[in-house]
Amino acid sequence: MIGPRVQEAALSLAGTPAYLYDLPALDEHVASVRRALGAIELYYAVKANPDTELLRVLAGHVDGFEVSSAGEHAHVTALFPDMPVALGGPGKTDAELRLPHHRLHVESPNELRRLLATGLEADVLLRLNPDLAVEDAALTMSGPFGMDADGVAECLPLFGDRVRLRGLHTHLASGLAAPALLELAGALLDSAYEEVNLGGGMAVSYASPQTRFDWAAYGAGLAGLGAGRRLRIEPGRALTAYCGYYVTRVVDVKRVRGQAYAILLGGTHHLRTPVTKGHDQPFTLLSTGKGADVDGQVTFVGQLCTPKDVFARNIETSVRVGDTVVFEMAGAYAWNISHHDFLMHPKPEFRHLGA
Ligand SMILES: Cc1ncc(COP(=O)(O)O)c(C=O)c1O
Repeated sequence: MIGPRVQEAALSLAGTPAYLYDLPALDEHVASVRRALGAIELYYAVKANPDTELLRVLAGHVDGFEVSSAGEHAHVTALFPDMPVALGGPGKTDAELRLPHHRLHVESPNELRRLLATGLEADVLLRLNPDLAVEDAALTMSGPFGMDADGVAECLPLFGDRVRLRGLHTHLASGLAAPALLELAGALLDSAYEEVNLGGGMAVSYASPQTRFDWAAYGAGLAGLGAGRRLRIEPGRALTAYCGYYVTRVVDVKRVRGQAYAILLGGTHHLRTPVTKGHDQPFTLLSTGKGADVDGQVTFVGQLCTPKDVFARNIETSVRVGDTVVFEMAGAYAWNISHHDFLMHPKPEFRHLGA
């Protein structure tokens, strides 16, 4: 379901496709997250969406930004030279290890040795890949990320006055609800470290857009667990997913061997999220069409020459050529993770509501 502000903007678009970002909605959402977290520090994981106008809204609420490359670092520090930056990510180059930061998330003992070889000062959190069972996650960040207990032990004697150990960093999984994240946090906080960054990964349900992560329970739970420590989190998706919309139009409808299709301008080269996550992207259909129609279980596809170019499958509806389709929850891992140049179709327009 979209609100009147987004509906009006979607209907006013002459040429589609377009991304709409509802900045007042983002402002309200992040302000409520901030309130729920109390003294817990909140960084935004820029990888979720580095759009400049979104970052400007977020900067009014967050304590800092988490960046994962020299590119994100340059983007954020040019916009907000005075805001703290935590630099993370696997496979940092020597140039990245030399970048100024508030915190550097070190991923391996060898990375720490290369950091020491720069001769520069650094404030480090060691990224821990903990031996904890993670259930019901959309994506578990095990594998090559961070270090196990042996890797951490190898790092500890290397610290000194110039390269200082501040604490631990971890990002356990994506898509966990507050109780599961709190359980994992409880296991992790059973350590002597005074500063801990618990990462992001707060659940976002594309199947049930009204179901939201319980920030109040998470904030209260962390406050109880973290007494006397400096705690930080760095969510991405759960902050920006809801403020973004991808608006497009039906260009053709048809039936192929009984299956109904609506073919939309644009495609998953603009909005790759449903393919990446294997879900139906939620949408609102606006009846602006006057052309041919199709109904029943309709599959919504784009203009790409690949069977993977699917936004949503077998949705019970009725669609006309010329109808406007407003895909919701397109504010995170959407445009910025998509393969924009495949087939060289035009790029979408970008509109920021309330800017
Ligand atoms: C280290 C780290 N921090 C934060 C995030 C943000 O996660 P999410 O957008 O699921 O909150 C990610 C995502 O992959 C990550 O790898």
